[in-house]
Amino acid sequence: MKNIVLVGFMGAGKTVTSKTLAAQLGAERVSTDDAIIAKEGRPINAIFEEDGEAYFRNIEAQVVQELSGRVNLIIDCGGGVVLRRENIDALKTGGLIFYLKTSSDVVYARVKHEKHRPLLNVDDPVARINEMLNVRENFYQQADYTVMTDGKTAEEVAGEIIEIAASF
Ligand code: S3P
Repeated sequence: MKNIVLVGFMGAGKTVTSKTLAAQLGAERVSTDDAIIAKEGRPINAIFEEDGEAYFRNIEAQVVQELSGRVNLIIDCGGGVVLRRENIDALKTGGLIFYLKTSSDVVYARVKHEKHRPLLNVDDPVARINEMLNVRENFYQQADYTVMTDGKTAEEVAGEIIEIAASF
């Protein structure tokens, strides 16, 4: 099986959808964030605070290269993986990329009580989400498929992905 790669903004439901896909397909699920945490031995917040975003992006790119060389995976990508073209190219070599597209309202409702996302720990998270979604939309559109997620359960989103992936 080609890898199934999920991209999309923070709070798009990549984690829950990737777990549902892994359970339904009997495949291994990996997360770029978890791989980064394991490699660095510290949480994402600490990496951003101590070494900055550029450092984080370099480790993220290494992890993406490593995971892209494997097969039969469900890959849950951090929201910023799409920012580097080399990441997209690597992920596409052995996999199909699905963009989980979510409105800013839904993103905010999902992330407002969480503190582990350094890029949203700001005074006006709603403005920040809108700003980042605007900038990132073109990057997310580099995915092979876009799946709308507002108002859908993880099972419904996973079902759409499985149907598309089945024809490859
Ligand atoms: C980020 C998203 C996060 C994590 C980091 C940066 C981003 O992952 O990789 O905080 O730039 O959008 P999730 O999308 O899983 O929250």
